Amino acid sequence: MLVYFVTDEPSKLPAVRAMFEPQHAVVPWVLDGGGTGVRAHGVLMVDVDLRQLPCADKLRPVLNELAAIPERLFVVPPHARAMIAQAYALGATAIISRAKEAMPKIAQIECAEAAAETAAADAALDMDAGVAAFASMFSNVRLGRPLKVADAQRATSQIVQRVGQGGLSTWLDEVRRYHEGTFQHCLLVTGIAVAFALDVGFSGTDVSRLGMAATLHDIGKARIPLSILDKPGRLDPDEEEIIRRHPVIGHDLLKGMSGITPEILDGVRHHHEYLDGSGYPDGLKGGQISDMVRLLTISDIFAALIEARSYREPMPRPEAYEILCGMEGKLEGPLVRAFRNVALGS
Ligand SMILES: [Fe+2]
Ligand SMILES: [Fe+2]
Repeated sequence: MLVYFVTDEPSKLPAVRAMFEPQHAVVPWVLDGGGTGVRAHGVLMVDVDLRQLPCADKLRPVLNELAAIPERLFVVPPHARAMIAQAYALGATAIISRAKEAMPKIAQIECAEAAAETAAADAALDMDAGVAAFASMFSNVRLGRPLKVADAQRATSQIVQRVGQGGLSTWLDEVRRYHEGTFQHCLLVTGIAVAFALDVGFSGTDVSRLGMAATLHDIGKARIPLSILDKPGRLDPDEEEIIRRHPVIGHDLLKGMSGITPEILDGVRHHHEYLDGSGYPDGLKGGQISDMVRLLTISDIFAALIEARSYREPMPRPEAYEILCGMEGKLEGPLVRAFRNVALGS
């Protein structure tokens, strides 16, 4: 652990070094003398006579420079109430009465950091498991093997968990950083649809149902040639026609499978339908399109707009939301307005 030792008294430095080193590396910062080598981790220990006004004034810019270090221990003599208040006002996270007391505090901080690292690694493993299930589902279908509904359920529940705990933005950033093409798109749509369902207060069962429909909505694309699917730029009319078959292909793939509910089939087949009847494949209108499908369609369009592609920058979320707002008549206006929180939030 790096210990940044800020002091107005350079003579204290050898004793502090003797106390902490070699277990911890001491980086000295003497008021008036300056300091170097600031990084974003470690512990800050401030041993400055806060009763001296010039010292406190000199300390502020130093603390600003060291602002990235989250833990700040201030050495304040016992019973010096005014100094304790001042230390907290300057950003202390803990007060100790002697430099020696920093040792157990640092041990505690190290423990907390190790626990946080383990939690982050576990979360990454969970993410990998969900993504792996997703990948296996897609590649099975592409290779003509049967789709395993358990893979879709596993992927969906991992995404529900991740978005529920970490928020949508973290999910979007991770997916766009690590995944490409249709695969990226489906992970994004699922995360967005789940965030939407959570935001409007769906029950757990309904969140999972919509999540499953989103996970599987473009599964029919696994049967479309990659040369069309991943083609950069515009598709010609024949290619367009082929790609527009994916909702029906997906529906036919899933029909009759155990674990696939009518709502999931509805989402897979109808996520490109518009309220004004201009969508495909069935040209449904208004009331023929269920609420869940309306929500899925909004999530799908938004995901497509903010996707990261090798040949274009992802569209910023506010701009993508503006486009949805301009689709009045095709999408349900009140639902698009309800989507605002998800589109622009964290
Ligand atoms: Fe689609
Ligand atoms: Fe899609």
